[in-house]
Amino acid sequence: MARVNATAGRDGFHDPAASEDDQAYRDVNRSNGPQGIPPPEAHDRSECVQSITIPLNDVPAWTPTKKLRVVIIGAGYSGMMMAQKLQHQHAEEMGKLLDFVIYEARSTVGGTWDANTYPGVRCDVPSAIYAFPFEPNPEWSHFFSTGGEIQDYFVRTVTKWKLDEHVQFNHRVAEARWVEDRARWRLEIEHDGKRFTDHADILISARGFLSTWRWPSIRGLHDFRGHKTHSADWDHSYDYSHKRIAVIGNGSSGIQILPELAKLEGAHVTSFQRGPTWVFSRHTPAKLVGSDDPSPNPEYREEDKERFRNPEELKQYRKKVQGGVNGAFKLFVKGSQYNKDSTEFARKQMAAKLDNDPDLCEKLIPQYELGCRRITPGSGYLEAFTQPNVHLTNSEIVEINADGIHTADGVFHPLDVIVCATGFDISQVPSFPVIGRDGVSLAEKWKDEPESYISLACPDVPNLFFFTGPNATVGHGSLIFSLDWSAEWMIQWLRKMAEEDIASIAPKQEVVDEFVRYGDQIHKTLAWTGGCRSWYKANRIDGRVTATFAGSAILYEKLVNGRIRPEDFEIRYRSTNRWRFLGNGFTQYELTEGNDLSYYVA
Ligand SMILES: Cc1cc2nc3c(=O)[nH]c(=O)nc-3n(C[C@H](O)[C@H](O)[C@H](O)COP(=O)(O)OP(=O)(O)OC[C@H]3O[C@@H](n4cnc5c(N)ncnc54)[C@H](O)[C@@H]3O)c2cc1C
Ligand SMILES: NC(=O)c1ccc[n+]([C@@H]2O[C@H](COP(=O)([O-])OP(=O)(O)OC[C@H]3O[C@@H](n4cnc5c(N)ncnc54)[C@H](OP(=O)(O)O)[C@@H]3O)[C@@H](O)[C@H]2O)c1
Repeated sequence: MARVNATAGRDGFHDPAASEDDQAYRDVNRSNGPQGIPPPEAHDRSECVQSITIPLNDVPAWTPTKKLRVVIIGAGYSGMMMAQKLQHQHAEEMGKLLDFVIYEARSTVGGTWDANTYPGVRCDVPSAIYAFPFEPNPEWSHFFSTGGEIQDYFVRTVTKWKLDEHVQFNHRVAEARWVEDRARWRLEIEHDGKRFTDHADILISARGFLSTWRWPSIRGLHDFRGHKTHSADWDHSYDYSHKRIAVIGNGSSGIQILPELAKLEGAHVTSFQRGPTWVFSRHTPAKLVGSDDPSPNPEYREEDKERFRNPEELKQYRKKVQGGVNGAFKLFVKGSQYNKDSTEFARKQMAAKLDNDPDLCEKLIPQYELGCRRITPGSGYLEAFTQPNVHLTNSEIVEINADGIHTADGVFHPLDVIVCATGFDISQVPSFPVIGRDGVSLAEKWKDEPESYISLACPDVPNLFFFTGPNATVGHGSLIFSLDWSAEWMIQWLRKMAEEDIASIAPKQEVVDEFVRYGDQIHKTLAWTGGCRSWYKANRIDGRVTATFAGSAILYEKLVNGRIRPEDFEIRYRSTNRWRFLGNGFTQYELTEGNDLSYYVA
């Protein structure tokens, strides 16, 4: 009978004398079989393989053969959600299975909310549900909070839970290269003008889907002699009052910026837009707290906050808000009664805000399906166009010169300032090379259509998990809960990989192909495939929806929250025998003094 060793393996992952590199190599080869991670053919039924016997793995079953090293890229909501899972929610278990580090290119946490500080920046989903699930916030000042308030909450929460303990700030991941025979990623990290190498058994991309901004490619933009700024990199040192200002773009950012600039003394603002955006709000949110404030963004009263300080009251309120948002997903069904009713309502509301001005209504009320582009509540946006200092052109920009913008209708617009609210690099392609199995480049693979396994993984790039990869739940309601579900999905895999002696996993290509094709069928029924140009479709009018999940948030929750489908994955093991995790035939449970050894007798 095998020698029973109750503890071996649990603490025996690392030899402190060995270099990290040597240790990792030794770890994977400990106690058995051929050198290195066995290739897939090692598991086929050839005569040679049948004759291989591996030594007994003399530890209790499911004892990991290696402590995993996990590297997370980014310290925004996604990265900090994962940190909370690893440091708190699953700390005891995960602490035994893995070590982790978070590399963050910026100098602080917050991601989106550290970067986007333009005037008017707010969330467009209710703050009550745009918060970490483990840190509900009774103190929000408004139904939709400002970016500054969100960032304050973010930093407060990170500090309270010590979520930055594993974060290396000002560290940018510059390259990731899969090393097959070690089953790990080799990473190049930039810090302080220098590069160093790190390794990860599992790489988690929490790098954000809207974290890389670029100047738009408009001829002559950089010849402009006035002041220019981008929404995601706002220049606060400049005085925008008494200026002639262009706001290029009318996505959610431009819609929030324009009314704020229009309020400045002496400012003349011209909106340059290629097509209109649905701007409406059906909420009278104050009703949810029993107040009759008609504002679309009411302030919470002290009495509301006092009630919310009771966690049960806050939970009930958040449930009410979340339930409403989830119920409203039907709005996205093309041709549905919900969509028709909402369209009618939105049209009337927009016209009223535009003082029923026929020219403004024609230019600013869309003809395409409601919900096709992101709907924004747009507080004060439409009303701004009725003011004499706000102008609108929907003639294409032909060229920019030192003094202003030429539009296709032959008009020249002299300017002091150009604000580019022109969005982000939404290609999904990481801003650094990611080279997967057999030299497959992710940039190449995704150059036309980014396609993923339910937004979380991609064939040919093993052991790389994504928060908000292609077709994530970014189009409806608050993203935050779905980050939580994605993190739980990753936790499931981390556990399985560590305990079942798994070297690498990657979704099968045919599974992803089928998922994408089926998702496209669902998308045809949804407004996101409507007749608008939007970043959900990679800034196309026609073409696949690449950004949003093909279905509701509830469907996504049921699909991924703590559930994995190993049958969708190609799994490679650390030894030539996938059953090595059975160890010495005992479980740790029965070897632990005092445990009930008849637990299954009902
Ligand atoms: C102005 C604005 C308003 C928004 N409002 C809402 C809203 O109301 N509701 C909603 O649900 N969503 C909203 N979003 C979407 C928002 O991006 C997400 O809700 C959420 O903040 C994303 O979090 P994240 O952690 O995934 O990404 P991010 O917040 O983008 O964080 C990613 C982090 O990764 C870091 N990083 C990237 N590349 C590297 C690298 N190579 N090396 C190291 N670090 C790297 C970045 O510096 C960044 O800190 C908004 C987005 C914007 C731009
Ligand atoms: N909480 C919020 O309210 C909030 C605020 C900001 C951002 N966000 C999130 O961030 C996403 C992105 O919003 P965003 O407004 O920054 O970007 P966006 O929705 O991609 O909008 C970019 C705008 O710039 C225009 N544009 C781009 N390139 C141009 C060019 N070369 N010439 C002329 N116009 C050009 C686009 O016009 P076309 O449409 O014609 O291409 C569009 O109007 C939102 O959908 C949302 O998810 C949320």
